[in-house]
Amino acid sequence: MIQFENITKSYGTKTVLNNVSVEFSQTKTTALLGPNGSGKSTMIKSILGLVKPESGTITINGTTISNSDEYRQLIGFMAQVARYPDNLTIDELFSMIEDVRLNISSQKEDLITLFELQQHRKKPMKILSGGTRQKVGAVAALMFDSPILILDEPSVGLDPRMTLRLKEYLLQEKHKSKTIILTTHILHEVEELADELIFLLEGSIIFKGSPEYLLQMTAQRTFERAIAYMLSNSPQQ
Ligand SMILES: Nc1ncnc2c1ncn2[C@@H]1O[C@H](COP(=O)(O)OP(=O)(O)OP(=O)(O)O)[C@@H](O)[C@H]1O
Ligand SMILES: [Mg+2]
Repeated sequence: MIQFENITKSYGTKTVLNNVSVEFSQTKTTALLGPNGSGKSTMIKSILGLVKPESGTITINGTTISNSDEYRQLIGFMAQVARYPDNLTIDELFSMIEDVRLNISSQKEDLITLFELQQHRKKPMKILSGGTRQKVGAVAALMFDSPILILDEPSVGLDPRMTLRLKEYLLQEKHKSKTIILTTHILHEVEELADELIFLLEGSIIFKGSPEYLLQMTAQRTFERAIAYMLSNSPQQ
């Protein structure tokens, strides 16, 4: 279980996370939803220790993350905007990642095949297309069979075939009872993958519950309408 307790993060005078307390349930897939700039990536980066909140605590399975680095071995992470050294080839990048992770079992080769990266593996990162870079990020996040997956808009830039492959792979991961946190603006991805939704607006949680509960609470027919309802009827708008 990943627990946020009274987390506040500001950039200058702008409060991006405003005293957030919420739990991401163990072995469930949670979609973290909210409009652009609502603080989703900031929240995700706080779990990885890439963003340091001013106050509050984050615990993973009961351990406060600021007291330890080891918890990161449990997490496969895909950033919204991945930055890699320009001259490293895909193969060199994956070898480097394998060297720093203690975990020896790697699904790298299967994932390279799944995402059709074979013909690109000797190419340096700087010449790769956007979608190819995105696939590299997906392999890096998924290759260690980590029990926790944190994926920030993983299918952005992927073509429809690859989006489908990624979704099907994530469905398999979900059925292995992994804890998955996913941000996405693609609603069918949410509908097919998420057990729970957390809706973030201007740094505060305005909804947490199942997709069914969201439909019921908003009295909307479709998920798309329910999300739109949340955006237009929030007291903070
Ligand atoms: N390093 C930073 N310095 C200053 N402001 C930042 C920084 N990172 C994020 N912000 C600001 O924090 C707010 C939340 O950003 P964040 O990236 O968490 O949003 P998001 O919900 O992930 O949005 P999106 O859907 O566009 O990915 C935005 O106003 C953004 O401009
Ligand atoms: Mg984001």
